[in-house]
Amino acid sequence: VSTQVCIIGAGPSGLLLGQLLHDIGIETVILERVSLDHVLSRVRAGVIEQGAKRMLEAAGAGARMNAQGLVHDGFAITRESEHHRIDLNGLTGGKYVTVYGQTEITRDLVDRRADTGGLTHYEVDAVEPHDFDSDHPYVTCRIGGEETRFDCQFIAGCDGFHGASRRSVPEKAIRSFEKVYPFGWLGILADVPPVSHELIYASHSRGFALCSMRSRTRSRYYIQCNAGDSIDAWSDDRFWTELRRRLPADIAERVTTGPSFEKSIAPLRSFVAEPMRFGRLFLVGDAAHIVPPTGAKGLNLAVSDVHYLFEGLRSHFLERDDHVLDAYSERALARVWKAVRFSWWMTTMLHRFPDQAPFEARIVETELAYTLGSEAAKTALAENYVGLPY
Ligand code: FAD
Ligand code: DHB
Repeated sequence: VSTQVCIIGAGPSGLLLGQLLHDIGIETVILERVSLDHVLSRVRAGVIEQGAKRMLEAAGAGARMNAQGLVHDGFAITRESEHHRIDLNGLTGGKYVTVYGQTEITRDLVDRRADTGGLTHYEVDAVEPHDFDSDHPYVTCRIGGEETRFDCQFIAGCDGFHGASRRSVPEKAIRSFEKVYPFGWLGILADVPPVSHELIYASHSRGFALCSMRSRTRSRYYIQCNAGDSIDAWSDDRFWTELRRRLPADIAERVTTGPSFEKSIAPLRSFVAEPMRFGRLFLVGDAAHIVPPTGAKGLNLAVSDVHYLFEGLRSHFLERDDHVLDAYSERALARVWKAVRFSWWMTTMLHRFPDQAPFEARIVETELAYTLGSEAAKTALAENYVGLPY
C-alpha cells in the first residue's frame, strides 16, 4: 500500500496532523496500536491554550469545544492557608485558557476524520519505520494478523513516549535529556461540582494538590503522592481527606465529595530528545518530549509541534519548498525547551521534595513567596501559562 504521509499513533498529535493534511488534499494513513475505545478511555490533559484552540478550529474540530469548553481568565495558587489569584487576562493583555478534556478533543478529531473519509487502522501490531534516511521510507506492521507495508514520502512519529518511532532511531543519532521527579500525581474524576469555578494549585507542607474540572458538574482532582504508591492504597475516602488537608480551611469545607469513577497515578518526568527529525522521520508530541503535568503544557506542546510540521509539509507538497520543513526540529525545540523550563519551574516551586537539603527548601519557599508578591514575576508566570506564541 502507498500513501504520502504515514502517521504512527492516533493520539491528539497524530489525529490533528492527519486532519490538517487530509483537508489540503495530502493522503495520510494513521496506524494505532490499541483500539479506538482504549484511545478514548484515556483521561489526561484538561487545559487548552488559545494557540491549540485555534489549531483545533483550523482542523474543523472546534465546534463542541467552543460550545462546551469553559473559558478561564485566571486561576488560584494557595500556600498553606493563603489564597492568591493569578489574573491571566489582566496580566497578558486579554488572554485566557479553555478547560476542555483531552478525551473530548480526541473524540472530536476521531469524528471529524470519520466524516471526511480519513483512514485510521486500530489494533495494529509490530509497527516499525524503515529506511527514513533514504528517499523511500516505509512502515511495516501487522493488521488483523496480516503483515502489511506502507510505502510513503514521510513518516510522522506521533506515538507517544513509549512508541516505536523514537526507538527506531540509531542511538548515536539522538541525544536525550531527562529528569525524573521523586513523586507522582494521583488523579481522580468524580461527578461532583468543582470546589471553585477556577483551578486551584495548592502548595502545602503535606504536598501539592490541584483542583481542576471537566465541566460544571465534573471535577478532576490531583494530589502529589509517593512515586511507588499503588492506587489500591488510595480509597476515595483517603483521597478526599488528604486533598482537603492540603487546601485552606474555607476551601476544604466547600469540597463536594462523591464516588470517583477514574483513579490513576502518573509518574512525573521531564524528557527531551534532540533532534526531532531524522531524514524522513519526524517525532511529534510526547514521542519527542515529556513534561511534568504542573502547568498543563504536554498536550499544548504536541499541538505546537503539529503546527510547525504541518507548515513544513504544506510548503513541501503545495509549493515544492523545503525551507520550512528543514527548520522543523529547530523551531519546535525552541518552543519545547521553554515549556520544559516552565513545567520544571512550576513543579519545583509547588511540590514538596523528599530529602531536600534545607538550603534548597528555603530557596523554593522563597521562589513562591517572591512570585506571589511581584507583579513582574506573576506576569512571567501568566505569559507562560496561557502559552508562548507560535
Ligand atoms: P499520546 O497521547 O501518548 O498518543 C500516542 C498514541 O500512539 C497513543 O494512542 C498510543 O496508543 C499510540 N502508540 C504508542 N505506541 C505505538 C506503536 N508502537 N504503534 C502505533 N501506535 C502507538 N498533559 C497535560 O497537559 N495535562 C495533564 O493533566 C496530563 N496528564 C497526563 C497523564 C498521563 C498518565 C499521561 C501519560 C500524560 C498526561 N499529559 C497531560 C500529557 C498529555 O496527555 C500528552 O502530552 C498528550 O497526550 C500528547 O499527545 P500525543 O498525541 O503526542 O501522544
Ligand atoms: C489539569 C492538569 C494539569 O496538569 C494542570 O496543570 C491543570 C489541569 C487537568 O487535568 O484538568
